[in-house]
Amino acid sequence: MTYRTEQPRTIRLAEYSPPAWLVDEVALDIVLHPDRTRVTARLSMRRNPAAAGGADDIVLDGRGLPLLALKVDGRALSPGEITKTDETLTVPGGLVAGRDRVSVETETEIAPAANTALEGLYLSKTCYCTQCEAHGFRKITFYPDRPDVLAVFRTRITGDPAKTPVMLSNGNKVGEGTLPDGRAWVEWHDPFPKPAYLFALVAGDLALVEDSFTTMSGREVALQIYVEHGNEDRTAYAMDALKRSMRWDEEAYGREYDLDLFMIVAVSDFNMGAMENKGLNIFNAKYILAKPDTATDLDYALIEGIIAHEYFHNWTGNRVTCRDWFQLCLKEGLTVFRDQQFSADMRSAPVKRIEDVRALRARQFPEDAGPLAHPVRPEAYIEINNFYTATVYEKGSELCRMLHLLLGAEGFRKGTDLYFDRHDGEAATVEDFIAAMAEANGRDLSQFARWYSQAGTPVVSAAGTYDADARTYTLDVRQTTRPTPGQPAKSPMHMPMRMGLVGEDGTPLPLRLQGEEQGDTPTDRVLELTGESHRFVFEGVDRRPIPSLFRGFSAPVRLETGLGEAEDLKLLAADPDPFNRWEAGQRHGRRRLLALMGEALVQKPFSGDPDFCEGLGAVLADEALDPAFKALALQMPTAHAIVQEVTDADPDAIFAARQALQAEIASHLKAPLLAAYERLSGAGDYSPDAADAGRRSLRNVALHYLSLLDDPDCRDLAADQFRAADNMTDTMAALATLTNMETPAREEALAAFYDRFKDDELVLDKWFSVQATSWRPDALQQVQTLTGHPAFTMRVPNRVYALIGGFASGNPVRFHGSDGAGYRFLADRVLMLDKTNPMVAARLLPALSAWKRYEPGRRALMKAELERIAATEPLSKDVYEIAQRLLA
Ligand code: ARG
Ligand code: ZN
Repeated sequence: MTYRTEQPRTIRLAEYSPPAWLVDEVALDIVLHPDRTRVTARLSMRRNPAAAGGADDIVLDGRGLPLLALKVDGRALSPGEITKTDETLTVPGGLVAGRDRVSVETETEIAPAANTALEGLYLSKTCYCTQCEAHGFRKITFYPDRPDVLAVFRTRITGDPAKTPVMLSNGNKVGEGTLPDGRAWVEWHDPFPKPAYLFALVAGDLALVEDSFTTMSGREVALQIYVEHGNEDRTAYAMDALKRSMRWDEEAYGREYDLDLFMIVAVSDFNMGAMENKGLNIFNAKYILAKPDTATDLDYALIEGIIAHEYFHNWTGNRVTCRDWFQLCLKEGLTVFRDQQFSADMRSAPVKRIEDVRALRARQFPEDAGPLAHPVRPEAYIEINNFYTATVYEKGSELCRMLHLLLGAEGFRKGTDLYFDRHDGEAATVEDFIAAMAEANGRDLSQFARWYSQAGTPVVSAAGTYDADARTYTLDVRQTTRPTPGQPAKSPMHMPMRMGLVGEDGTPLPLRLQGEEQGDTPTDRVLELTGESHRFVFEGVDRRPIPSLFRGFSAPVRLETGLGEAEDLKLLAADPDPFNRWEAGQRHGRRRLLALMGEALVQKPFSGDPDFCEGLGAVLADEALDPAFKALALQMPTAHAIVQEVTDADPDAIFAARQALQAEIASHLKAPLLAAYERLSGAGDYSPDAADAGRRSLRNVALHYLSLLDDPDCRDLAADQFRAADNMTDTMAALATLTNMETPAREEALAAFYDRFKDDELVLDKWFSVQATSWRPDALQQVQTLTGHPAFTMRVPNRVYALIGGFASGNPVRFHGSDGAGYRFLADRVLMLDKTNPMVAARLLPALSAWKRYEPGRRALMKAELERIAATEPLSKDVYEIAQRLLA
């Protein structure tokens, strides 16, 4: 048992109650200083008519803040008249009895330079910046820091003009000047009432890149991107993505931007990706800065997607916000769905869909299947920062996507129109969203709503029988969901199953259900599943069909198709639905990997599967296919995916099986892969667009395969590519390949890369992470050595994610070394980081979340490290909660 002085408190959705007091307006006066920033806040408060009434104390959050002065309606209160803890400041209701409006003024002092948790007001290098979602504002000043309190903010910032010539906050700049002592001040006013989590302040010596956008109603909006001096030439792509996002939201959702100014600031030190503060988005610089020789195609795609995501929050999150943090998916799920739609429109929709599903399976499925499983709308938390998860974000998006399919594009738009009309300026709930969708479409979505409260990935199993005489095909589908922590019994879900039936050669067959009129019969349709099992009888089926189910991944389920090898290879060759074509190849790849692992177990030599290689070869040769699609189809399921499929997972066996399968594919397809590699060699100017990126992606997949061959034709490909590359995508692909190899070219390349980019922090992160993910047996040793490298620091989240996160989450073979040294290394780093940045520490820990799936030796070693973490005192709420849940 561990002794704890204070049990962290659990917050529950069921205990929600409206605030007793609201804030109409807040005037902030912030005088900047690295160690002593003065914050004065004047809150115009009003009794909430919707609150229960009663004692009606005024409770303000304030975490670790000294109270230097407090006035209520102008009268200074003495410490004896109030209650103050390290978390709250309470003005007793008795002091304001009979008054419906009061003004509360507080003064406090904070030290941004000492703020290593990067929550609240902190310094990123020399630039002041804020991160207030979810509970950062309470580290800046005393305030009812909850999203259902919406106020109009006026912010005055005072600073040294030499150090902070740029001083920004939300809304419009309404005044500026110089004080007699030479200090500068600016004043900002945001006319849109907002919760405190959307407050932002930035002050520093930043370079500005400007552009403008004309909205659909003809208003001119100034667009500003602020970056460190010297990075101005890396903002063009982000600016362009912003303009495309603004246009897209007008066209797709009828949503126009509402202020005259939209600002983005890129900072080097940031715990997450980016933040949608009203009119002043703050970004991790990684998701803004790009030029061809420093950013990969993936970086460009992420920039486009995250710029869009944060911009789209202006409506889904800011204009309509969340009542409480349990409703996080209301803004995040919907906004991820919107950014995925946007990227699909900008790029190849099928390729984007495959990538999104790959990410969902890599990050969300394991969450749903393990000890951290929680519903898309969680019901309890200790630390809300632990719930910015793949389930809330990515599964939350899948729920919107299912609604989009069930209601149709037009129906979905009617639903969002009603949602915006009804809730603009409000803090809403998931129920409000579902109600708008249901009412706008005259549909009953009460069973669908279960997706928000029931955790776990449903398993759908399908079985079909063909009756040649009756020309009927009978499809039986059945759904079940396994228990998850705290939810032993599960109910069936309402889900759309987009499907088709195809002949052996992929010919789409008509889909006429028993009892339906003959006539214009579709070959692709959406069936709705609501019960535990359904039987669908298709009539007029003239030949034995192969079912192609859940096309486009129409519901976030695990599908057991009941199909055999031969059928999967046919679907891989010819399913008209590109997603399911890819899926059939993955399914067969997984089947192969499991077979090879079985052979390794009984020490049989690995068997071959020429038909599969031929099938992949046919995809590679198909002129009609998008190279980006081919690249995806050629990649075999990851080791992490296989861990989810087996019990007693053995990382060495999985690694050996993957290497064997890939080597087999490489040797079988050597000639076409080499030909593709040559043919795709980039000529002409680099463009980050999807078509060029797809060609690079396929070429680099070819490089990866060919480098597995011990073959004179292939041996030097990576080193040659590394030397010749004129863009970061090709450079990194070559470097990643080399990093796995035993060759002097490896050290040369790593040294040359370091030399060229040592002053470029974002590129340096790539140098760290590529070494962390190497499959060489000495990877852990290298990582340990790199923690002592002068360029390594635990203070910069990007660097930690690159090296420590890269190793723990991106190196499925060496992290899981059988001596447990990888686990010990991670646990040591988590504990070290917990003292300075608990949020980042807690984000590293899920690398151990699948511990129960591993063979007994690893399982015990992982568990021991989790127990060691859980027994440490003191521990942040963040790490405490994750460790407890992992061990429960
Ligand atoms: N709302 C941000 C987004 O767009 C994420 C902010 C999360 N930050 C945090 N400290 N939990 O996704
Ligand atoms: Zn978001």
